[in-house]
Amino acid sequence: LLLVGLVVFYVNRSYAKVAPDYIVPCKGHTPECLKKTIQEVIPLFVKGVPSLDIDVIDPLKQDYVAVELPGGFKVELFDGTVTGFRKCIVDSVSYNDGEANLDFHCNVTIKGKYKAKGQILVVAINGDGDAKIRIGGAAITSKIKFHDVERDGVVYHEVKSYDIKYKIEDKVTFALTNLFQGNPELSQTVLQFLNENWKQLVDEFGKPIFDKIVEIAYSKIGKFFEKIPKSELFD
Ligand SMILES: *[C@@H]1O[C@H](CO)[C@@H](O)[C@H](O)[C@H]1NC(C)=O
Repeated sequence: LLLVGLVVFYVNRSYAKVAPDYIVPCKGHTPECLKKTIQEVIPLFVKGVPSLDIDVIDPLKQDYVAVELPGGFKVELFDGTVTGFRKCIVDSVSYNDGEANLDFHCNVTIKGKYKAKGQILVVAINGDGDAKIRIGGAAITSKIKFHDVERDGVVYHEVKSYDIKYKIEDKVTFALTNLFQGNPELSQTVLQFLNENWKQLVDEFGKPIFDKIVEIAYSKIGKFFEKIPKSELFD
């Protein structure tokens, strides 16, 4: 009877897999296997996992975001979407002792309705219009620390902390309407100025915006590790 019990338990367990079928753990966590697996999983995973209440990550949607930039420059984005993650290319991955290093690059586009007011570089902006910002060649370096958390007898390998940095290897292109309310000519001139000075803008204002995107993406990705048992992810 005990044996039958064990067999049933075993069968049940194998049927009770939580992770989507495309998740296959890498034996020994070799960098080659991790890189290949993560690369294959990205376009599927970004569609979200409704059964686990994990939202879609490409497009990443946010009804409202406000970011206060250095110098008191305030930007608000309404009906914001960030697209492009599905095509990210994984450059390298390693996992050792609860610490993962993941480097990848992507082209990302941010869209929405914006409002912005304040001094940016040498120009004063008082804008309210449509925004599209293309970030070409964003190279992202991430270090993620995990820790084991047990709930109802199941061990999860959850994200404990992360440190994510970026570098722009191509360029950032702005398409913003009505940067200077009611003055299309000045708006156009200011837009051209922003595009010519994209590098300086990224240096001064890139980090808070990047950190915001990471925070929003993480609020969704983190759930993945909170809902899928460690045994299904780390062999
Ligand atoms: C990003 O876009 C450029 C062209 O604009 C393209 O050559 C490159 O392959 C793209 N990179 C990725 C990771 O999709």
